[in-house]
Order: sequence, then C-alpha cells, then structure tokens
Amino acid sequence: MRQCRLTTLLNRNYLVITVQPALTGKNILLIISGGIAAYKVLEVIRRLRDRDINIRAILTKGGAEFVTPLSVAALTENKVYQDLFSLTDEAEMGHIRLSREADLVLVAPASADILAKMATGQAGDLATTALLATNKPVMIAPAMNVEMWHHRATQANIATLENRGVIRVGPSSGDLACGEVGSGRLAEPAEIIASVLDFLEAQEAPKPLAGKKAVVTSGPTHEPIDPVRYIANRSSGKQGHAIAQALCDAGADVTLVSGPVNLPDPAGVKVVQVETAREMLAAVQSALPADIAICAAAVADWRTAGEAGQKLKKDGAGFIPDLKLSENPDILAIISAAGPKRPSLVIGFAAETENVTEHARAKRTRKGCDWILANDVAPDTGTFGGDQNEICLISGTDEKTDERWPRQSKTGIGRALAMRIIDHFS
Ligand code: PMT
Repeated sequence: MRQCRLTTLLNRNYLVITVQPALTGKNILLIISGGIAAYKVLEVIRRLRDRDINIRAILTKGGAEFVTPLSVAALTENKVYQDLFSLTDEAEMGHIRLSREADLVLVAPASADILAKMATGQAGDLATTALLATNKPVMIAPAMNVEMWHHRATQANIATLENRGVIRVGPSSGDLACGEVGSGRLAEPAEIIASVLDFLEAQEAPKPLAGKKAVVTSGPTHEPIDPVRYIANRSSGKQGHAIAQALCDAGADVTLVSGPVNLPDPAGVKVVQVETAREMLAAVQSALPADIAICAAAVADWRTAGEAGQKLKKDGAGFIPDLKLSENPDILAIISAAGPKRPSLVIGFAAETENVTEHARAKRTRKGCDWILANDVAPDTGTFGGDQNEICLISGTDEKTDERWPRQSKTGIGRALAMRIIDHFS
C-alpha cells in the first residue's frame, strides 16, 4: 500500500486536511558548486530535512569557498563528501553508490563551470564523476553573472543538458551579487524546494498506465526536394511531446517518434528521431505491438516524386523547376487497419481550418482510428507552434458523444488525454 502523509493546515476557521504522498526516506544527492548563492542552499537543505528527506552532499572545491563543510554536515545530518580520491570515503561509500542511491541528484547552485563540465562529460573531481556515473534524474539550479548566463557557450550547454532530460529550475532575474542586474540569480529556495517536492511526489504518484505500451508521433516531417531544400509545415511538436510526457508520467512505456523539432526529449520517454514520412512509418511499425498509438504529427501528405541528387540551380533565364509530388503513406490509416499488431486504442488528430468537427468525424471514419481529436488550426488560433490548444474528442458517429475540452495549455491537453485513456482502460 502506498504510504500517505496527512498534512493539517489551520486556515482561519477551517481545518484543511490534504493527503500527500509520503516522501520520508527519499534520498537526494545535493551537489553544491562554487558561487555566492551557495549560502541559500542551506535553507533548501533545512526545508527538505523538515520533510524527512535524506540528503547527502558533495561540496566542490569552489562550493567550499562559500559554505563550510561543517554547516552542510550539521544541516544534512550526514557526512559531506569532497574528495574523489579519499580512501575513507571510498571505503564507506564509493562515488558510484553515492550517485546511484539517490532518487534525485540536485546541483544547486549550478555554476557555469559545472554546467560546462556536465555538458561535455568531464569527471575531474568527485562532483562531476558522480554526475557522469549517475543513472538517476538530475535537476540543476543555475546561478551566475548575467553575461555568463547569456553567453552562447552556457546557453548551448544548457540546451545539451535539457535535451538529455536534465530538469532546470531558474535562474531568476534581478540584482546579482556582482552588482549587475539581469538573469542569473539562483531561483529562490522556495522555488527549488517546490520543484524537488513536485518531482518526488510525481515519482510516488499512482501509475495507472503501468504495463501499457504507447507509441506517439509528433512534429512535422521534412520531405527533401534536393540536398538543401525540403517541404515542411509549421508543427513545433509541442502537442505530441506533451502527450508523450503525460502518458509516461502515468506509467506507460512510451516511444515517441518525432520529426525535426527544437524541443528537449520528454523525460523517461524513448525518442526516435526521423525526418520523412516514410521514416516515421518505419519507426512506428518497429515500435509495434503497442496498446496505444497516438498520431499527433503533422505528416506531409505529399513528397517530391524523385528527390534531386544535386542542388537545383537557378539558371538566370527564368527556369522554374516542375516539382512533381507523390503521396506519402498514411501512418494513421496503416496502423488503424485490422491486423494482429493493431493497437487496441488508435487515436488521430484532425487539423482543420473550417467545419472542424464535421471534417474530423469524416476523417475518423476514413482512416479507421478509434478516437480523433478535432483541432482548429485556423491562423488566428495560433495552434500550430503555439502553447495553447482547444480540442474536441470524437469517439463515435453521434455528435452527442463529442467531448469539448476548454482551451488550455498543450501540457493540459496531454494530461487530459492521458486521463481519458486511463478511464478507457479501466
Ligand atoms: O506541433 P504543434 O505546434 O504543437 O501543433 C500541434 C498540431 C496542430 C500539429 C497537432 O495537434 C495536430 O493537429 N496534428 C495533426 C496534424 C495533421 O497533419 O493533421 P491531418 O488532419 O492532416 O492528419 C490527420 C491525421 O492523420 C493526424 O493524426 C496525422 O498525424 C495523420 N497522418 C496524416 C498524414 C499522413 N501521411 N500520415 C498520418 O499519420
């Protein structure tokens, strides 16, 4: 049985009782790197200890310039680890165990230096060795000077880390210790604590889709015209990625087949990157059998009939290439077709600019999927590429069974769809 904790809050005349998953016994490996903001992390330690969360800390050489091992040890009620080559530390707890026994590795403050070392996989001291050796989720709370934060090198390192699934908290904006003003302030302790608790509570949350396998398509496809040009569309992948994350959070084993997008991989999801519709179809087929398939990708309906081997040349005499198109395979229709590998729930999207639900209903029948999410993509909605979406879930021929969901974030749509799928399977 899942352990729960009752939290009581006296709120004026009411006694509010909330049930929270117990976090007692959860383990955090805290890495404190060098930066003036290190002192704020002492507050983070205190508040997490109030929740009975165990904390082991690694204090880097730079970190020890700002907070003492003694204060970190006193607050964590644990030994503080500092030296990669300490025989006594290795005998008590090797750096591999240190990094593996945590439920979460938190790097706070995360200096520009440690972020660069993480991004390039360096292992020159205990902190970076533990970070390279860990197979556990990593959260970073960056803190540095505004110019260092905005430097292209730091931003590239952050993008690399986020693409690997590292979770970021902050930085925030405001007065910096160096006297300058701007982004680079360590997130407030309350924000770091909230992110850690949210993360640990999500790990404890029930996983109603555990044991279910899902395949999700996302993003556009790029159909080459010649080696430098391609046919594409405006899909950002935000919706498909949000759905994959929501299914994974609900416990499903998710394969996300994504066209070219500029988004980090959803945490815990297996991502297969493709370019063309035909590659997407092959990747989806090799992810089968699955229980659930969701086609959120904006797959190009047509590709050029015969990609040019060399760049098409503008000859200065007004020659315009005669582009011939051929039809791409319809992934949704192919996996909806009856057969031993057909997922038991196949869900498509219908991106329409007019008569949205009527076209979507017809598309559901034509493609043979179980549900279709009617999606208004008229230019004024900003659905393509934007952060919000509005959906009508169509699961039958009778309009009365249509479910209109309010306009909300694409993350919200992902969660709502995961809830609806949980309901379906239960
Ligand atoms: O990526 P975002 O910026 O977040 O935007 C989200 C979105 C608008 C792309 C997404 O929510 C959406 O509507 N996806 C479907 C886009 C689309 O191509 O719709 P369609 O009506 O043309 O296609 C209908 C269905 O068939 C879709 O499930 C599509 O994935 C699928 N299809 C289409 C063509 C094809 N060759 N193979 C397919 O599987």
